[in-house]
Amino acid sequence: MNSFVTGRRLVRELGEWRSSAPAYKALAERIRVLLMDGRLSSGAKLPAERELSQALALSRTTVAAAYSKLRDDGFLDSVRGSGSTLQLPGRERGEHALHPGLSLDFTKATAPAYPGIQGAYANALEQLPAYLCHDGFDLVGLPDLREAIAQSYTDRGVPTSADQIMVTVGAQHALNLVTRTLYSPGERILVEQPTYPHALDTFASVGARVLAFPVRQDGGWDLQEALLQIRRAAPSLAFLMPDFHNPTGMSMSIHEREYLAAAAAREGTVLVVDETTALLDIDRGPLPPMAAFSPNILTLGSLGKLAWGGLRVGWIRGPREIMARLLRNRPAGDLGTPLVEQLAATTLLQELPSMAASRSLDLRRGRDTAVQLLRAQLPQWQVQVPDGGISLWINTESVSSSALALAARAEGLGLVPGPRFGIDGAFERYLRLPFGYSDGQLGEGIGILGRIAGHVGSDPLRMPLQAVI
Ligand SMILES: Cc1ncc(COP(=O)(O)O)c(C=O)c1O
Repeated sequence: MNSFVTGRRLVRELGEWRSSAPAYKALAERIRVLLMDGRLSSGAKLPAERELSQALALSRTTVAAAYSKLRDDGFLDSVRGSGSTLQLPGRERGEHALHPGLSLDFTKATAPAYPGIQGAYANALEQLPAYLCHDGFDLVGLPDLREAIAQSYTDRGVPTSADQIMVTVGAQHALNLVTRTLYSPGERILVEQPTYPHALDTFASVGARVLAFPVRQDGGWDLQEALLQIRRAAPSLAFLMPDFHNPTGMSMSIHEREYLAAAAAREGTVLVVDETTALLDIDRGPLPPMAAFSPNILTLGSLGKLAWGGLRVGWIRGPREIMARLLRNRPAGDLGTPLVEQLAATTLLQELPSMAASRSLDLRRGRDTAVQLLRAQLPQWQVQVPDGGISLWINTESVSSSALALAARAEGLGLVPGPRFGIDGAFERYLRLPFGYSDGQLGEGIGILGRIAGHVGSDPLRMPLQAVI
C-alpha cells in the first residue's frame, strides 16, 4: 500500500540535511539515505515540489532539481498528475529489495537456531494426527502451550494462569494486535529513545503521535522525563523493554520498574512491556518481571531470539478483561497461530532453562569477541559492555552511521544506522552492532568497519556514490 509522506514529516526525517554540496544534491542524497535505511519506505509518495519547497523554505527549482536527480538515479518514479513515488532500483530485476548482494547481514539482531529445534518439530509432527479431526483454527493458543507459558511467569515470580495468555505469531504480531485494540486515533504513545524500530513502524501504521523519553548508557531510564510526559500528555500506551533493552542491552533496576509501573497505573497509561529479549542473560542474573509491579500491564514474549526467528511463536500476557478485548479484535487481522509451530513451541518451553543456558554461552562468546575486535580496530569508538541482550550500542564519536551503513553496503555488509532507533533524526552518531554471530562473521564484519570508518566522514550526506545498491 502506498503511503503519503507529508512535507512536515519529511522535514522531520531529513534532520540536518545540508552539507557543503549544492542544496539540490544534498537534499537528493539525504532522501536516498532515508530510503536505503528504511526510514522512508519504497512505494511512499513524496510531497509535491511546491509543498516541500515551502516546508523547507527553499526555491521550488531546488526541490525540482533534487527530485530530478532522484529520478535519474532510479530512486523516484514520477507520473504526471499522480505525484512522485520512492522506489529501490533493481526491484524489477527480482533482487531482494533491501539486501541486494549482501554477504554479511548485520541488520538483524538474531542468533542461530537452537539445536533442539529440529527434534521439537519432529515431535510436533508425531502429535499432529490427533489434531487433524479439528478445524485447526486457533485464536488463543493450545492449552498445553498456554499452560507452559503461564508456568514460565509463575517460575519468575509472577503467578499466572493460562487464561491470561494468548499465543501469537511472534512478538511483532502481538504488538500489532495490542496497538490496534487499545489505541484510538488522536491518542499518544510513549516510547523509550532509542527503541525497537518495528515498534515505531507499528505505531506509525495507526497514525499515533509518538513521544519519547531517554534511555542513557550512563544514567539509565530518565524517570523524571517519563513521568513528565505521562502527566503532561496522558499517553494511552507506553512501550518499554526493561530487560536487555534493544538496542542498548541495558536493564531497568528494580526501583525503575516499580516507579514506572506506579506512575503509569496512577495516570491510566497501559504499559506494553516487550520481553522478547528478557531471557538473553549473559552475566546479569534474574530480576522480577515488570508485571510483578502492577496488574494492569501487558507483557509480550517470543521464542524468536531464544529458539529461532523462523518459529514465529510469541504471546501476550495480561489482565483477563484486556485479553478478552484482544480476542474479539484478533480475527480482523489473522485467524490464529499455526498448529505445528505451537506443538514445537510446547516442547521447546519444556527445555527453557537449557535453551537459555545455551544461548547465554553463545552470546557471551559473541559479545566478548565483538568488544575485543572493536577495541583493537576502532579504539576511538565508545563501546559499553552490556550484561545481556544481543547487540552493542556504539557511540561512533564523529562518524555518521547513515554514511557508514551505505559504505558498508558497498562492501557487502548490511547495518542499521542509529537514527532508525530514534525519532526525529536522533542517534546519527550511534550504531547497533548485533553480536549473535560466529567469531568468523564478527571478524569479517568488524574488519570491514575498521577499513571503511576512516573514509566515512561525520557528514551523513558525503557518501561514496558506489555505495548505492
Ligand atoms: C524488542 C523486539 N521486539 C519484538 C521483536 C519481534 O519478535 P518476533 O520475531 O517474535 O516477532 C524483536 C525482534 O527482533 C525485538 O527485538
